[in-house]
Amino acid sequence: VATINLAVIPGDGIGPEVIAEALKVLEKVVAKEGVALEQTEYKLGAQHWLETGETLPDEVLADLRTRDAILFGAVGAAPGDTRIPSGIIEREMLLKLRFSLDHFVNLRPSRLYGTVGSPLANPGTIDFIVVREGTEGPYVGNGGTLRGGTPHEVATEVSLNTAHGVERVVRDAFRRASERPRKHVTLVHKHNVLVFAGHLWKRTVEAVAKEFPEVTHDYLHIDAATIFMVTDPSRFDVIVTDNLFGDIITDLAAAITGGIGLAASGNINMDRTAPSMFEPVHGSAPDIAGQQKADPTAAILSASLLLDHLGYTKAARRIEAAVVADIESRSGETRSTAAIGDAIAAAL
Ligand code: NAD
Ligand code: IPM
Ligand code: MN
Repeated sequence: VATINLAVIPGDGIGPEVIAEALKVLEKVVAKEGVALEQTEYKLGAQHWLETGETLPDEVLADLRTRDAILFGAVGAAPGDTRIPSGIIEREMLLKLRFSLDHFVNLRPSRLYGTVGSPLANPGTIDFIVVREGTEGPYVGNGGTLRGGTPHEVATEVSLNTAHGVERVVRDAFRRASERPRKHVTLVHKHNVLVFAGHLWKRTVEAVAKEFPEVTHDYLHIDAATIFMVTDPSRFDVIVTDNLFGDIITDLAAAITGGIGLAASGNINMDRTAPSMFEPVHGSAPDIAGQQKADPTAAILSASLLLDHLGYTKAARRIEAAVVADIESRSGETRSTAAIGDAIAAAL
């Protein structure tokens, strides 16, 4: 039998709650396909750091590399928790994973099922993917402070963009567009102000577009892109953008398609030199943690992206279909995290 050797990182806050439901669904669907699922759980995150002082030890990273894929919940402390400095876990654990495992494609699909849950009056058909660059941009930690704490403090945070890094993610976006009905790529950046990085992105899109004559493309500045995402989201098919713009626009994309509780993502190493990692777009949601209030759908759809990546397409479609059926049957009732997971598992 085929076996999936899965790493599971539940993390903090609602992470363990939503991952329990994703595993419930994943276990059931792979059993139906006759695939074995071996799970190894890793204790990592803000709570783990408080208990041990560890963020992501090298031995743990090495062990994670031996797995086929990683299912990740969420990490992060509550805003008011002064014991955990902001950024420690995010940078030294989550971003360290994305960077070390070369997750250069941060894939974030957005789809509106029916009109359920969109705050837009006339949402139209929303079905696009954001291909967010995952290993560069302002996220690389290329910065520092001088004269910290004085009136003359200087803080820098320099965005890193390499020709190699931009080209591989842009090519991935065009390839994905070429396999979609509308075959359209929108580059989102800010080349009117960020002229150095912006022009590299723009030139790269022009060059890669020549390899895909069947794919059309256009360009939007990030600020205007947020307007169109609200006024005319059906214009988007594939958005390609840098790490920070992609972070911001995908929370907005989630909000217009039923909320952050539905938004899934994959941190994908397309060269398959290391395991890819699948996680909901949302964070640890300290405001609702431990209350069975979190929607596990984003985590469940992330498991579907994971199966897709590993080539279990039929199982992935099965999860999607069960999720769509569940979303379309919602009528504003409040269900617990486990009840939503149970309903989706039952519909498989
Ligand atoms: P968040 O996504 O955790 O929460 C934003 C809002 O969305 C909250 O009101 C929350 O209750 C709600 N929400 C989130 N997920 C939900 C779900 N599944 N169902 C229903 N409601 C949901 O973002 P935040 O508050 O900015 O960040 C909290 C912590 O999480 C911070 O420490 C942050 O750094 C971290 N974070 C981690 C990740 C990650 O692990 N990938 C992503 C984003 C934020
Ligand atoms: C996300 C999160 C992360 C990001 C943070 C927690 C590092 O917001 O996955 O969207 O900015 O990528
Ligand atoms: Mn985010």
